[in-house]
Amino acid sequence: MIEMREAAKVPQKLEYGDTVIIWGGKKNRSFIITLQEGEILNTHLGVIAHEDVVHQVEGSKVCSSKGHHFWVFRPKTRELMMKVKRKTQIVYPKDAGWLILALDIVPGIRVLEMGTGSGAFTILLARLVGSEGKVYTFDRRRDFLLNALNNIKIAGLSHRVEARIHLAGEPFPVEDMDAVFLDLPNPWVAIPAAYDALAPGRPIALVVPNAEQLKKAVATLEENGFLSIQAVEVLERNILVRQQQGVRPFERMIGFTAYLVSARKAGD
Ligand SMILES: C[S@@+](CC[C@H](N)C(=O)[O-])C[C@H]1O[C@@H](n2cnc3c(N)ncnc32)[C@H](O)[C@@H]1O
Repeated sequence: MIEMREAAKVPQKLEYGDTVIIWGGKKNRSFIITLQEGEILNTHLGVIAHEDVVHQVEGSKVCSSKGHHFWVFRPKTRELMMKVKRKTQIVYPKDAGWLILALDIVPGIRVLEMGTGSGAFTILLARLVGSEGKVYTFDRRRDFLLNALNNIKIAGLSHRVEARIHLAGEPFPVEDMDAVFLDLPNPWVAIPAAYDALAPGRPIALVVPNAEQLKKAVATLEENGFLSIQAVEVLERNILVRQQQGVRPFERMIGFTAYLVSARKAGD
Protein backbone atom coordinates (compact mmCIF):
# COMPACT_ATOMS: atom_id res chain seq x y z
CA MET A 1 0.00 0.00 0.00
CA ILE A 2 1.45 3.41 -0.97
CA GLU A 3 1.51 5.76 1.97
CA MET A 4 -0.34 9.01 1.27
CA ARG A 5 1.00 11.04 4.18
CA GLU A 6 2.17 14.07 2.18
CA ALA A 7 -0.08 17.11 2.45
CA ALA A 8 -2.64 17.24 -0.39
CA LYS A 9 -1.64 19.67 -3.16
CA VAL A 10 -3.61 22.91 -2.73
CA PRO A 11 -4.86 24.12 -6.13
CA GLN A 12 -3.54 27.60 -6.87
CA LYS A 13 -6.23 30.21 -7.43
CA LEU A 14 -6.26 32.13 -10.69
CA GLU A 15 -5.01 35.72 -10.45
CA TYR A 16 -4.95 38.80 -12.66
CA GLY A 17 -2.06 38.38 -15.11
CA ASP A 18 -2.62 34.61 -15.52
CA THR A 19 -3.30 33.29 -19.02
CA VAL A 20 -6.30 30.94 -19.09
CA ILE A 21 -8.46 28.95 -21.49
CA ILE A 22 -12.22 29.50 -21.30
CA TRP A 23 -13.82 26.36 -22.79
CA GLY A 24 -17.46 25.40 -23.35
CA GLY A 25 -20.71 26.63 -24.83
CA LYS A 26 -22.83 24.57 -27.21
CA LYS A 27 -19.96 23.79 -29.57
CA ASN A 28 -17.17 23.44 -26.99
CA ARG A 29 -15.28 26.42 -28.32
CA SER A 30 -12.23 27.73 -26.48
CA PHE A 31 -10.79 31.21 -25.95
CA ILE A 32 -7.38 32.14 -24.59
CA ILE A 33 -7.22 35.28 -22.45
CA THR A 34 -4.90 36.96 -19.97
CA LEU A 35 -6.93 37.98 -16.92
CA GLN A 36 -7.09 41.76 -16.49
CA GLU A 37 -8.99 43.99 -14.07
CA GLY A 38 -12.15 45.51 -15.60
CA GLU A 39 -11.94 43.40 -18.80
CA ILE A 40 -14.57 41.15 -20.35
CA LEU A 41 -14.51 38.25 -22.83
CA ASN A 42 -17.08 38.52 -25.62
CA THR A 43 -18.21 35.08 -26.77
CA HIS A 44 -20.91 34.05 -29.24
CA LEU A 45 -22.94 33.02 -26.18
CA GLY A 46 -22.64 36.17 -24.07
CA VAL A 47 -20.04 37.97 -22.02
CA ILE A 48 -17.76 36.64 -19.26
CA ALA A 49 -16.20 39.19 -16.88
CA HIS A 50 -12.57 38.50 -15.97
CA GLU A 51 -13.45 39.31 -12.35
CA ASP A 52 -15.74 36.24 -12.34
CA VAL A 53 -12.72 34.07 -13.17
CA VAL A 54 -10.08 35.41 -10.76
CA HIS A 55 -9.84 33.62 -7.41
CA GLN A 56 -11.41 30.50 -8.96
CA VAL A 57 -9.35 27.32 -9.16
CA GLU A 58 -8.55 25.64 -12.47
CA GLY A 59 -11.48 23.52 -13.69
CA SER A 60 -14.14 25.83 -12.20
CA LYS A 61 -17.39 26.50 -14.04
CA VAL A 62 -18.30 30.09 -14.98
CA CYS A 63 -21.55 31.37 -16.43
CA SER A 64 -21.83 33.81 -19.36
CA SER A 65 -24.24 36.78 -19.30
CA LYS A 66 -26.65 34.66 -21.40
CA GLY A 67 -26.55 31.79 -18.92
CA HIS A 68 -24.24 29.41 -20.84
CA HIS A 69 -21.69 27.31 -18.98
CA PHE A 70 -17.97 27.55 -19.61
CA TRP A 71 -15.02 26.07 -17.74
CA VAL A 72 -11.73 27.74 -16.96
CA PHE A 73 -8.36 26.00 -17.33
CA ARG A 74 -4.69 26.86 -17.35
CA PRO A 75 -3.64 26.31 -20.99
CA LYS A 76 -1.99 23.06 -21.99
CA THR A 77 1.10 23.41 -24.18
CA ARG A 78 -0.94 22.24 -27.17
CA GLU A 79 -3.42 25.09 -26.61
CA LEU A 80 -0.65 27.66 -26.25
CA MET A 81 0.73 26.48 -29.62
CA MET A 82 -2.56 26.36 -31.48
CA LYS A 83 -3.78 29.71 -30.10
CA VAL A 84 -0.75 31.78 -31.12
CA LYS A 85 -1.46 34.81 -33.25
CA ARG A 86 -0.43 33.42 -36.63
CA LYS A 87 1.63 35.27 -39.20
CA THR A 88 2.97 32.02 -40.71
CA GLN A 89 2.25 28.32 -40.91
CA ILE A 90 3.01 26.66 -37.59
CA VAL A 91 4.26 23.23 -36.55
CA TYR A 92 1.17 21.15 -35.77
CA PRO A 93 0.92 19.11 -32.57
CA LYS A 94 0.80 15.83 -34.52
CA ASP A 95 4.28 16.59 -35.93
CA ALA A 96 5.59 18.28 -32.79
CA GLY A 97 5.61 15.09 -30.72
CA TRP A 98 7.75 13.23 -33.25
CA LEU A 99 10.10 16.22 -33.59
CA ILE A 100 10.57 16.56 -29.83
CA LEU A 101 11.71 12.91 -29.58
CA ALA A 102 13.89 13.27 -32.70
CA LEU A 103 15.55 16.32 -31.15
CA ASP A 104 15.83 14.59 -27.75
CA ILE A 105 14.53 17.66 -25.92
CA VAL A 106 14.96 17.35 -22.14
CA PRO A 107 15.22 19.89 -19.29
CA GLY A 108 18.38 21.96 -19.09
CA ILE A 109 19.52 21.81 -22.73
CA ARG A 110 20.28 24.62 -25.20
CA VAL A 111 18.38 24.45 -28.49
CA LEU A 112 18.82 26.41 -31.72
CA GLU A 113 15.72 27.05 -33.82
CA MET A 114 15.90 28.61 -37.30
CA GLY A 115 12.58 29.90 -38.64
CA THR A 116 10.81 31.29 -35.58
CA GLY A 117 7.65 31.97 -37.60
CA SER A 118 4.79 32.55 -35.16
CA GLY A 119 6.69 30.99 -32.26
CA ALA A 120 4.40 27.97 -31.83
CA PHE A 121 7.24 25.43 -31.77
CA THR A 122 9.41 27.86 -29.78
CA ILE A 123 6.76 27.76 -27.03
CA LEU A 124 6.90 23.97 -26.92
CA LEU A 125 10.71 23.96 -26.85
CA ALA A 126 10.79 26.62 -24.12
CA ARG A 127 8.34 24.67 -21.96
CA LEU A 128 10.38 21.49 -22.25
CA VAL A 129 13.92 22.85 -21.74
CA GLY A 130 12.78 24.12 -18.34
CA SER A 131 14.15 26.93 -16.22
CA GLU A 132 17.77 25.82 -16.69
CA GLY A 133 17.55 25.51 -20.48
CA LYS A 134 17.50 28.05 -23.30
CA VAL A 135 16.03 28.37 -26.79
CA TYR A 136 17.93 30.50 -29.32
CA THR A 137 15.55 31.30 -32.15
CA PHE A 138 16.28 33.08 -35.44
CA ASP A 139 14.23 34.49 -38.31
CA ARG A 140 14.91 36.95 -41.12
CA ARG A 141 11.64 38.87 -40.52
CA ARG A 142 11.59 41.39 -37.69
CA ASP A 143 7.77 41.63 -37.79
CA PHE A 144 7.47 37.85 -37.41
CA LEU A 145 9.94 37.88 -34.51
CA LEU A 146 8.00 40.63 -32.71
CA ASN A 147 4.73 38.73 -33.12
CA ALA A 148 6.37 35.47 -31.98
CA LEU A 149 7.88 37.19 -28.93
CA ASN A 150 4.43 38.45 -27.98
CA ASN A 151 3.02 34.92 -28.29
CA ILE A 152 5.90 33.61 -26.16
CA LYS A 153 5.22 36.33 -23.57
CA ILE A 154 1.54 35.32 -23.35
CA ALA A 155 2.78 31.78 -22.67
CA GLY A 156 4.94 33.17 -19.83
CA LEU A 157 8.17 31.87 -21.37
CA SER A 158 10.06 35.00 -22.45
CA HIS A 159 12.91 34.40 -19.98
CA ARG A 160 13.78 31.07 -21.65
CA VAL A 161 14.01 32.43 -25.21
CA GLU A 162 16.57 34.59 -27.03
CA ALA A 163 15.43 35.77 -30.47
CA ARG A 164 17.44 37.49 -33.20
CA ILE A 165 17.16 38.53 -36.82
CA HIS A 166 19.27 36.12 -38.87
CA LEU A 167 19.47 35.11 -42.51
CA ALA A 168 19.73 31.38 -43.27
CA GLY A 169 23.22 30.51 -44.48
CA GLU A 170 25.09 32.91 -42.20
CA PRO A 171 27.08 31.40 -39.31
CA PHE A 172 25.04 31.22 -36.11
CA PRO A 173 26.22 33.36 -33.16
CA VAL A 174 25.96 30.32 -30.83
CA GLU A 175 27.88 27.04 -30.53
CA ASP A 176 27.83 23.70 -28.73
CA MET A 177 24.05 23.42 -29.13
CA ASP A 178 22.35 20.28 -27.83
CA ALA A 179 19.83 20.26 -30.70
CA VAL A 180 19.04 22.20 -33.89
CA PHE A 181 15.61 22.57 -35.48
CA LEU A 182 15.12 24.08 -38.95
CA ASP A 183 11.70 25.19 -40.21
CA LEU A 184 12.47 27.05 -43.43
CA PRO A 185 11.37 26.69 -47.03
CA ASN A 186 15.02 26.05 -47.99
CA PRO A 187 16.57 24.33 -44.97
CA TRP A 188 19.60 23.06 -46.93
CA VAL A 189 20.95 26.64 -46.95
CA ALA A 190 21.26 26.53 -43.15
CA ILE A 191 22.63 22.97 -42.81
CA PRO A 192 26.40 23.76 -42.92
CA ALA A 193 25.98 26.50 -40.27
CA ALA A 194 23.79 24.16 -38.22
CA TYR A 195 26.58 21.56 -38.31
CA ASP A 196 29.06 24.11 -36.92
CA ALA A 197 26.65 25.17 -34.16
CA LEU A 198 25.84 21.62 -32.98
CA ALA A 199 27.81 19.65 -30.40
CA PRO A 200 29.17 16.35 -31.85
CA GLY A 201 26.67 13.50 -31.86
CA ARG A 202 23.70 15.77 -31.17
CA PRO A 203 20.50 15.75 -33.28
CA ILE A 204 19.12 17.98 -35.99
CA ALA A 205 15.51 17.91 -37.23
CA LEU A 206 13.83 19.78 -40.03
CA VAL A 207 10.48 20.04 -41.76
CA VAL A 208 9.89 20.46 -45.49
CA PRO A 209 6.60 20.89 -47.34
CA ASN A 210 7.28 18.94 -50.55
CA ALA A 211 9.11 15.89 -51.85
CA GLU A 212 11.64 17.79 -53.98
CA GLN A 213 12.71 19.78 -50.93
CA LEU A 214 12.90 16.56 -48.94
CA LYS A 215 15.36 15.02 -51.45
CA LYS A 216 17.51 18.14 -51.47
CA ALA A 217 17.53 18.45 -47.67
CA VAL A 218 18.51 14.79 -47.18
CA ALA A 219 21.28 15.03 -49.81
CA THR A 220 22.65 18.15 -48.07
CA LEU A 221 22.59 16.42 -44.67
CA GLU A 222 24.57 13.49 -46.16
CA GLU A 223 27.11 15.85 -47.76
CA ASN A 224 27.60 17.76 -44.51
CA GLY A 225 28.52 15.02 -42.04
CA PHE A 226 25.11 13.98 -40.70
CA LEU A 227 24.30 10.30 -40.02
CA SER A 228 21.28 8.22 -39.08
CA ILE A 229 18.97 10.16 -41.37
CA GLN A 230 15.26 9.36 -41.13
CA ALA A 231 12.31 10.93 -42.98
CA VAL A 232 8.68 10.44 -41.98
CA GLU A 233 5.17 11.72 -42.48
CA VAL A 234 2.87 11.65 -39.45
CA LEU A 235 -0.85 10.97 -39.94
CA GLU A 236 -3.46 11.64 -37.27
CA ARG A 237 -7.08 10.49 -37.59
CA ASN A 238 -9.68 11.73 -35.13
CA ILE A 239 -12.26 9.14 -34.10
CA LEU A 240 -15.94 9.90 -33.66
CA VAL A 241 -17.02 7.94 -30.56
CA ARG A 242 -20.83 7.61 -30.38
CA GLN A 243 -22.58 5.46 -27.79
CA GLN A 244 -25.80 4.93 -29.83
CA GLN A 245 -24.42 4.88 -33.39
CA GLY A 246 -21.24 3.35 -34.78
CA VAL A 247 -17.74 4.45 -33.80
CA ARG A 248 -15.69 5.53 -36.82
CA PRO A 249 -13.11 8.09 -37.98
CA PHE A 250 -14.35 11.62 -38.79
CA GLU A 251 -14.81 12.15 -42.55
CA ARG A 252 -12.42 15.10 -42.53
CA MET A 253 -8.77 15.16 -41.51
CA ILE A 254 -5.67 17.21 -42.10
CA GLY A 255 -4.30 15.21 -45.02
CA PHE A 256 -0.76 16.59 -45.07
CA THR A 257 1.35 19.11 -43.19
CA ALA A 258 5.02 18.40 -43.89
CA TYR A 259 7.72 15.78 -44.23
CA LEU A 260 9.82 15.52 -41.08
CA VAL A 261 13.52 14.65 -41.10
CA SER A 262 15.94 13.82 -38.31
CA ALA A 263 19.68 13.10 -38.25
CA ARG A 264 22.71 13.25 -35.94
CA LYS A 265 25.95 15.12 -36.29
CA ALA A 266 28.91 12.77 -36.75
CA GLY A 267 32.05 13.57 -34.76
CA ASP A 268 35.48 13.88 -36.43
C1 LIG B 1 6.81 28.10 -41.48
S1 LIG B 1 7.55 29.43 -40.65
C2 LIG B 1 8.09 28.70 -39.11
C3 LIG B 1 6.95 28.35 -38.19
C4 LIG B 1 7.34 28.03 -36.79
N1 LIG B 1 8.10 26.80 -36.70
C5 LIG B 1 6.12 27.94 -35.89
O1 LIG B 1 5.78 26.81 -35.41
O2 LIG B 1 5.48 28.96 -35.62
C6 LIG B 1 9.06 29.68 -41.54
C7 LIG B 1 9.84 30.89 -41.13
O3 LIG B 1 11.09 30.87 -41.79
C8 LIG B 1 11.48 32.21 -42.04
N2 LIG B 1 12.44 32.19 -43.16
C9 LIG B 1 12.19 31.83 -44.44
N3 LIG B 1 13.32 31.91 -45.18
C10 LIG B 1 14.29 32.34 -44.33
C11 LIG B 1 15.67 32.62 -44.52
N4 LIG B 1 16.27 32.46 -45.70
N5 LIG B 1 16.39 33.05 -43.45
C12 LIG B 1 15.77 33.20 -42.24
N6 LIG B 1 14.47 32.95 -42.01
C13 LIG B 1 13.73 32.52 -43.06
C14 LIG B 1 10.19 32.92 -42.38
O4 LIG B 1 10.32 34.32 -42.18
C15 LIG B 1 9.19 32.22 -41.47
O5 LIG B 1 8.99 32.98 -40.31
